[in-house]
Amino acid sequence: MSLTDLRTTTEHALGPVEQIPPGEGRAFVAGGVQVAVFRLRDGSLHATQAACPHAGGPLADGQTDVDVLLCPLHLYAYRWSDGASTSGAAPIRLYPVHESDGEVVVEV
Ligand code: FES
Repeated sequence: MSLTDLRTTTEHALGPVEQIPPGEGRAFVAGGVQVAVFRLRDGSLHATQAACPHAGGPLADGQTDVDVLLCPLHLYAYRWSDGASTSGAAPIRLYPVHESDGEVVVEV
């Protein structure tokens, strides 16, 4: 098995980056895992678990800026830098995500 084979077992192409409007998130299933991917207004991508650790809110529908993600249900905030909650909830899990040839690629 080559290094490329190992990498493809964890990377999942999710389609064109344009499907995520700047400043918004979208929910995907990658390798059987529900993830929320955000395209920030600065062009960066972030990915996290789809369900909020507080009470299962849909994080893909949350508001975000370059620093934090707000869950739409109870407005708990999570930092993009490390996934920690600034509101006292359990942290969110962050997944590596990048753009490759115009496609969103997440590692799950
Ligand atoms: S479910 Fe997300 S803050 Fe409550």
